[in-house]
Amino acid sequence: MSDHRDETRVAYDGVVDLYASLFADRLETQPFARHMIGAFAELVRGTGNPRTADVGCGPGHLTAMLDELGLDAFGLDLSSAMVDHARRAHPALRFDVARMENLPVEDGSLGGVLAHYSMIHTPPGELPALLAEQVRVLAPGGLLLVSFFGTEGPEPVRFDHKVTPAYSWPVERFVELLTGAGLGTVARLLHDPASERGFLDTHVLARRP
Ligand SMILES: C[S@@+](CC[C@H](N)C(=O)[O-])C[C@H]1O[C@@H](n2cnc3c(N)ncnc32)[C@H](O)[C@@H]1O
Repeated sequence: MSDHRDETRVAYDGVVDLYASLFADRLETQPFARHMIGAFAELVRGTGNPRTADVGCGPGHLTAMLDELGLDAFGLDLSSAMVDHARRAHPALRFDVARMENLPVEDGSLGGVLAHYSMIHTPPGELPALLAEQVRVLAPGGLLLVSFFGTEGPEPVRFDHKVTPAYSWPVERFVELLTGAGLGTVARLLHDPASERGFLDTHVLARRP
């Protein structure tokens, strides 16, 4: 049966080279996102468990950044074409095809999970289960950094993202979901604009107690 993940996979399979050429700069022109990932990496290193998943890793540029920041990072993506690209671009790192909804990772084994604009295509009703799966793989004290298109609300809104439909999220509503998944929020960074639509570029860092 086809579902939204199949649509997302096919859409990203078709834009690998374009996507990689646009976004493979390791956030050189995005200082806020870059420094939030730097803070995430520092905190993950501080847990003593550097094992970190970059979920929805796309072409793998942020997995490579996490590696450079001293983490034992690996990438997962549902698009096999993205994973092929990531393997070619970063042969020393591990990349696998996997869905964020069903991570091939043991319970409580990771110090960190990075979800950089990779939960944006998930229908709002599925977000609680998706977040629960990320919490499952985090060790106590482990950190999740999630980035998304934020709004002032009141509801998530579906919009025509350039690759495949996506959702913008009221920041407070997303934070409530993180809290509901059992995470404590550590930091939020909001700045604008994330796109010509005026969404807030939003990064929320949360920790498993
Ligand atoms: C907007 S791109 C972000 C890629 C990368 N994280 C970055 O920041 O450049 C979204 C990525 O998430 C992946 N993705 C979306 N839904 C997914 C899911 N349910 N499981 C695994 N990967 C998913 C897509 O295939 C795509 O590569």
